[in-house]
Amino acid sequence: MSTAKLILDGKEYELPVIEGTEGEKAIDIRQLRSTTGAITLDSGFANTGACTSAITYIDGERGILRYRGYPIEQLAEQATFPEVAYLLIHGELPTMEQLAQFRRELTYHSMLHEDLKKFFEGYHPTAHPMAILSAMVAAMSTYYPDEADDMVNMVRLLAKVKTIAAYAYKKSIGQPFMYPRNDLSYCANFLYMMFAVPAEDYEPDPLMVSTLNTLLILHADHEQNCSTSTVRIVGSSMADLYQSVSAGICALSGPLHGGANQRVLEMLQQIHDDGGNLQKYIDLAKDKNSGFRLMGFGHRVYKNYDPRALILRKKADELLGKLGINDPLLELAKKLEERALSDEYFVERNLYPNVDFYSGILYRAMGIPVNMFTVMFAIGRLPGWLAHWKELREDPGFRIYRPRQVYTGPAERQFVPIERRG
Ligand code: CMC
Repeated sequence: MSTAKLILDGKEYELPVIEGTEGEKAIDIRQLRSTTGAITLDSGFANTGACTSAITYIDGERGILRYRGYPIEQLAEQATFPEVAYLLIHGELPTMEQLAQFRRELTYHSMLHEDLKKFFEGYHPTAHPMAILSAMVAAMSTYYPDEADDMVNMVRLLAKVKTIAAYAYKKSIGQPFMYPRNDLSYCANFLYMMFAVPAEDYEPDPLMVSTLNTLLILHADHEQNCSTSTVRIVGSSMADLYQSVSAGICALSGPLHGGANQRVLEMLQQIHDDGGNLQKYIDLAKDKNSGFRLMGFGHRVYKNYDPRALILRKKADELLGKLGINDPLLELAKKLEERALSDEYFVERNLYPNVDFYSGILYRAMGIPVNMFTVMFAIGRLPGWLAHWKELREDPGFRIYRPRQVYTGPAERQFVPIERRG
C-alpha cells in the first residue's frame, strides 16, 4: 500500500493512500485528528471523499460517466429506466424474469392512498411542484411508518413519485387527477397521468415515451452530488427512507443544482425576448458583480463536455426534427454554447454545457411546463438516491455524517447582565 507524508509542526506523519478501481487516489485521513490533532478544511467538499462507493464512476477530465461500470451512452441508447433503476439499486442488470417482476411491483404500487391524495387540496394553487413533491414524500413516512422492509419502501417510492409529480401538475392547472394505468410502462404511465383527461382518449406517443426514458436514465445517478450527499447525510442519522429522500428533493430544487434546468429555459427565453443579444449575456456572466451566471454551464466535477449534455443535444435535434418543431430557443442555445466555448473566460475555467443546458428544450417539446422540469430531474434521480441510501445503510462501518469546523468566532468572554450593557 502506498502512503503520503505529512509534516506538521516539524513532525512527520505517514498517511495511508487508498486506490479506487479506476486508479483514483485518496489520502486516508480517518486517523488524522487522533494522531496529529489537526483536521482538514475543504469548503464545498471539493477534495473530500465522504465514502467509498461502488455505484457510479465519473472522470470529469475525460467526460466519462458509468453506472455500475456501464457507459452512460450505452445505457441511454439501449436500456429502459426501470432496468437502470434496478441496476443502480441491486448492482447488476436484471434478468428478464427479475425485470418483469420489478415492473409488476412498480405497477402494483403506483396508486396513491386515497387519504394521501387529499393532501393536494391543502397546497396553494401556485405552489411550486418541487415543494409539493418533497412534502408528499415526507408525508409518505406518516403512512408507512412501520414498514421495515427497505426494498418495499424503495419500490413504493419509485412507483408513487411519478404519480405524485403528475398530480402536482394536475393540481396546478385545476384538472382532475388521472389514476395510473396498469397496462402502461413506467414512462408511458407518467405521460398518461400528466396529459390525459377523463373526457378524451389519450395514448402516450412512443416517441415521447422513449425520449422521457432517455432523460430519466441520464438523470439517474451522479455519485456524491449535493442532493445525493443530502440523502446520505440524513440517512446516516437513521432517519427513514422517505424523510431522507424528501431532504434530497429539497437539495435538488436549488438553482445551482437541479433547479438549473428551469433557469436555463427562463434564461434562454429572456435572451430571446431581449433581441437575442448573446454577447450582452456572455459579458454579464463574466462580470462577477452582475450576479448573473450562464445557467446550464459549468460543473464541479466535469472539466470537459458533460457526456449527458452531448447525448441530449443530439436528442434535441432528433426530437424536434421528427416533430417538425422549429424552436428558436434550441438555435439560441447552440449559438450561446458556441460563443461561450470560444470565449477565453469559459475556456480558462473549463466551463462547458452541463446536463441541464439541453434537457429543458426536450421537456418543452414534450409539452412539460417549465416549473415541472426540476420535478422531472427528481423522478430520474430517485434510483440514485435509493442506491446510495441502501449502500450507506448496508455498510457495516457506516457512521453518522458529522463534519468538523475551524471556529473563527470570539474567544471566551464573560457574560454581562442586560442592565449593565446599556
Ligand atoms: N457562469 C459564469 N461563470 C461561472 C459559471 C457560470 N455558469 N460557473 C462557474 N463560473 C466561474 C465562477 O465564477 C468561478 O470563477 P472564478 O474562478 O473567476 O472565481 C469559476 O467559474 C469556478 O466556479 P465555481 O463556482 O467555483 O465552481 P463550483 O464547482 O463551485 O460550482 C456550479 C459549480 C455548477 C455550481 C457552477 O458552475 C454554476 O453555478 N453553474 C450554473 C448553475 C448550473 O448550471 N447548475 C447545474 C449543475 S449540473 C446538474 C446538477 O448538479 O444538478
